[in-house]
Order: sequence, then C-alpha cells, then structure tokens
Amino acid sequence: MTKKELNDILTTINDCTSLEELDKTRVYYLGRKGHFNKMMSVMAKMSHEERVSFGKEINHLKYTVNVELLKKHLEIEELEYNKNLEKERIDVSANLSKINSGTLHPINKTTNEIIDFFKNLGYQVHLGPEVEHEDNNFSSLNIGKNHPSRELFDTFFLKSNDLLLRTHCTNVTARTLKEDLYKTKLASVSVGNVYRKDKDDSSHTHQFTQIDGFFVGEGITMSNLIWTLQSLCKTIFGTETQSRFLPSYFPFTCPSTEVNTICWNCNNNGAHCPLCKGTGWLEILGAGMLHPKVLKNCGWNNDNIKGFAFGIGVERVAMLKYLVPDIRLFFKNNIKFLRQF
Ligand code: DAH
Repeated sequence: MTKKELNDILTTINDCTSLEELDKTRVYYLGRKGHFNKMMSVMAKMSHEERVSFGKEINHLKYTVNVELLKKHLEIEELEYNKNLEKERIDVSANLSKINSGTLHPINKTTNEIIDFFKNLGYQVHLGPEVEHEDNNFSSLNIGKNHPSRELFDTFFLKSNDLLLRTHCTNVTARTLKEDLYKTKLASVSVGNVYRKDKDDSSHTHQFTQIDGFFVGEGITMSNLIWTLQSLCKTIFGTETQSRFLPSYFPFTCPSTEVNTICWNCNNNGAHCPLCKGTGWLEILGAGMLHPKVLKNCGWNNDNIKGFAFGIGVERVAMLKYLVPDIRLFFKNNIKFLRQF
C-alpha cells in the first residue's frame, strides 16, 4: 500500500461526522470482507519470506488504522456528549414564577419577642394542657369556690365537672411549681391558648393567647418584679418607654399590680388619642408577689422563699404595638391584613 493510499484511508476516517458513519468505515476497511482482508488474499501466491514481510506490513497498517478509528471514536463521542449537554441545559437564572413565602403571624411574632426576652434572662419555658383539672386552674391558685370566674357562664367546663378549658396560663405556673424537685429557686414562663365564655367583640374573643411566668427564690422582692417588667415593656415598646404600677387584685398574688406603659401613640399628651382614649396610659399586664398560700399549695414550704408572677395577654400587646383596632382580625386569616407584619 502506498503512502498516499494510507493517507486517503486516514482522511476518510477523519472526515466521519457520526459514530454510525465511523462504524461503516471500520467495517469497510477492517471487516471480514473488508479492504485489508481482500489485500491479504494475494498472500496465497507468495513465498514464505514474502508472506512474512507482507503480513507484518499489513498488520502494521491495520494497527495504524485502528488507532485512528479509536481516536476519532473518542472525538465524536465527546462532541456528541457536549452537544447533548447543550441541548439539555437548564438556565437556573431563569425568572421562575413568583414563589409566595409566608410571614410570621403577628401573635407568634409578639409571643416570640416576649418569650425570647425571658429566655435571655435564663427563664425555662414550660407548656401545659389546655384541658385542665380545676385544682391547677383554680384551687391551688387560691381562687375560692365562690369566685365568679368559676361560674358556668364564665368558664367552659367539660362533662366531668372537675375538668375545664383553662381560663389562663397560670395553670402551668401551678404545675411547674408543684413538679419542681428542689423547691429552692425557679424561673419559668409558659405560653398557650386560654378560653373564656366571652361574647366575641372588638376586644374580646372566647379563645386567646397568654404568657404566664414567675420567678421564685430566697430574697425575691417587688423590686425584682418591677425591674423585670419595666425591662420587658422597654423591649417590646422601645427603650424610652415609661411604665407605672397600679394596685390591683388577683387571688393568687399579694400585693397585686396592673402594669401600664405610657401611651406610645400620644406620649401622655393626647386628650383625643384613640389608643389610650385620652388616659395617657396603656394597660399591659397583671402581676404581683405570689400569695404564700399558692406557694404552700404547690409544695414550697420554706417561708423565706418568695416569688413574683405575671400574666400577659399576647393579643392585647400585639393590638397596642401594631395599632390593631379589632382583636378578631387576628383570627380571620385575611392575607392582606397578615402580610403587613
Ligand atoms: N391569670 C391572670 C388573668 O388571666 C393574669 C395574671 C395576673 C397572671 C397576675 C399572673 C399574675 O401570673 O401574677 O387575668
């Protein structure tokens, strides 16, 4: 075979553009009835020496062609692979249709803010049942048998008269105080739904959210209560917020207090302020020093141990913070309303 003939074969291989074409070319030259085998048919008439040297030459040529075929095969394969990659390419930067992500419900947002405040001070967080025994909801908390909140028109009782839907989260305060093993020092907050047999209107719902908490230990005084709740008000309504503590009454605390903050809307200046109704102050929460009877009922018998407690209506705080005029808006699932927070 002349050099030109070999070059022609190599060029034919190189000109192939697909694997099928390349395979046909391979069969044409190297197949059983192919070009090289045909060339070898002349060997029959050759002498032994001629045959050996001719055979060697053919084998060498076949090897050269094979290598070229293999190189071309790899080249075409890579080209096809890249072509497919290009075809199947996904443009990850493409503008997809807008994904609607949710926002935290204002009640959850306010709850998280308050709970985070107490967690940062080292308070534990406890949860309790919404269906409660009257003992944890009333008796242990010094709420006597004749207290009005025990009336059928104030509380949802279950068929068994000892069970009810809790009217406040102070039931968890009773439970946590009772369950503590050491009875030396404890700070805890709880959060959850509470139920009252109220007619729903712009400031009442039969179900709402409360956060209840306490700090008991030796040497705890009213000034600890004041510092803690003043700091809480500043955290929720801003560092400039002033608060005042008015006398109040709860059966489970003595003394009891109602905590007000200065109205952040009019700063105690607006006779016609819609938020504070001209009083200059906003009622935020109830609190007090835990009644000694409550501590005893919950198994805390050391007279040197005192504690303060507090109860916060989360909807009320959220209404004041975000100027929401009607508590029912929180429960209506109106996306336009909820998206604002
Ligand atoms: N449980 C009270 C209520 O629902 C709120 C409250 C007031 C809770 C004073 C307390 C407290 O722990 O010390 O109205």
